[in-house]
Amino acid sequence: MTIRSVLKMGDPKLFKVSEALDSIDAETLAPLLQDMWDTMVAENGAGLAAPQIGVMQRVVIFGYESNPRYPEAPPVPQTVLINPLITPIGDVLEDGWEGCLSIPGMRGVVPRYRDIVYQGYDQHGNEISREASGFHARVVQHECDHLDGILYPLRIVDMRQFGYLDTLSEQSVIKLQPCDDEP
Ligand code: NI
Repeated sequence: MTIRSVLKMGDPKLFKVSEALDSIDAETLAPLLQDMWDTMVAENGAGLAAPQIGVMQRVVIFGYESNPRYPEAPPVPQTVLINPLITPIGDVLEDGWEGCLSIPGMRGVVPRYRDIVYQGYDQHGNEISREASGFHARVVQHECDHLDGILYPLRIVDMRQFGYLDTLSEQSVIKLQPCDDEP
């Protein structure tokens, strides 16, 4: 078990486009995926993208059965998603608060597609194709953005809805939701 350190905003790697995997081999991927799960769980995250630990490959993980800090959050299936493709269903955008392990202590309101299809492969090379809505869809969009070098502040429309979690909480501005989140 290795908890890796998560790159923080300001590190140029977080703004780079990650490489697609040419071949998918579970044995080769196992150490990376184990480190990613260990790191995500240790940080109480809802998801993590490989470039956040400095591995510039199109691999994300996300999902949890339940999160003790956010008992009302809907479960998201625990998923390894490689070379993902996201296709919006319709054009409805929904605003929601997001955080990111690469931007500790801050939250911002980000518009995301409410309904999507996401496709890709698991670590065994099995195809994944799922419809997702709401928070599940938000987590997937957030994680996959990391593969294109996009951090959530780049998608904030109203920068007045971006700030420090402790201040936002004190003022009851924010209803807490986990999203690639730190305690
Ligand atoms: Ni993130």
